[in-house]
Amino acid sequence: MENKLCIITGANSGIGFETTKALAQKGAYVVMVCRNEEKAEAAKEQIIKETGHSGLEIVLCDFAIQAEIVEASKRIKQKFDKIDVLINNHGFLASERNETVDGLEETFAVNHIGYFLFTNLLLDHIKAAENARIINVASEAHRAGEFDPDNLQLQEGFKPFKAYGNSKLFNILFTKELAHRLVDTDVTVNCLHPGVVASNFGQSGSWLMSFLYTIGKPFMRSNKKGAETQIYLATSDEVENTSGAYFKDKKKTNPSRIARDADAAKKLWEISEDLCGF
Ligand SMILES: NC(=O)c1ccc[n+]([C@@H]2O[C@H](COP(=O)([O-])OP(=O)(O)OC[C@H]3O[C@@H](n4cnc5c(N)ncnc54)[C@H](OP(=O)(O)O)[C@@H]3O)[C@@H](O)[C@H]2O)c1
Repeated sequence: MENKLCIITGANSGIGFETTKALAQKGAYVVMVCRNEEKAEAAKEQIIKETGHSGLEIVLCDFAIQAEIVEASKRIKQKFDKIDVLINNHGFLASERNETVDGLEETFAVNHIGYFLFTNLLLDHIKAAENARIINVASEAHRAGEFDPDNLQLQEGFKPFKAYGNSKLFNILFTKELAHRLVDTDVTVNCLHPGVVASNFGQSGSWLMSFLYTIGKPFMRSNKKGAETQIYLATSDEVENTSGAYFKDKKKTNPSRIARDADAAKKLWEISEDLCGF
């Protein structure tokens, strides 16, 4: 990974932190895209201390705010000519239905539009690298998701886990349509489930979700183990020519039927373009 530029979102915590550390250990230059400067600086310092590798920098971005996504991508594009690896890793679970400054339901905005807009804004720089890779962190929670183009943002029937499951389904549909659009390039895009991981995930959800995550932690896999599949997708020669796939434990696996629906993937892309003002 030496001389490779990797961009990773949500790099300060959980599996994003472990992935950043592993990429740094392998010699990559890593841009940590995070929303909280203090947490990001602490994570960066810890990684430098543990790896002895100082090729890391922070770009701040709250993925709930489209203007910040535009600004963060501009900063990256001004500084670097090409991007070898983009890992869309950040994610969260809302406790109730809130709308962002852009008027979008927050889970949909952060978990789906965050990946969609950021990737599209960086795409020319990704295409400029040789054999670049895009990795989207999805989840088995997508199996609880539904694709209803008239209710993507759950104006009707909002439930926190429903919104989360939908957003993770949209990560897979986004991967599928992007792979289709990139078929004539040497860029690959894949997505994954990291396992059930004892990260900080779930703390922003309802008290019940936060409680379940806290008491369940001893039975969950470590952040280091949870990061393995995305590190594999970012670095292994074995997946050099694989695109549009969903992985679990470093193996290709079938997502739900709706996650494999090409028409749903195309429709979601078109709606997302409109919502980003493309
Ligand atoms: N943990 C699991 O069991 C599990 C299972 C399946 C899939 N996943 C997926 O794995 C990915 C990583 O999660 P994790 O388990 O490592 O959880 P985590 O420890 O909570 O890390 C999530 C990261 O996302 C960032 N983030 C959340 N909202 C953001 C926003 N609006 N703008 C910018 N950054 C934001 C967080 O920043 P702050 O630190 O500032 O909050 C944090 O860096 C997520 O996509 C999640 O959906 C996790």
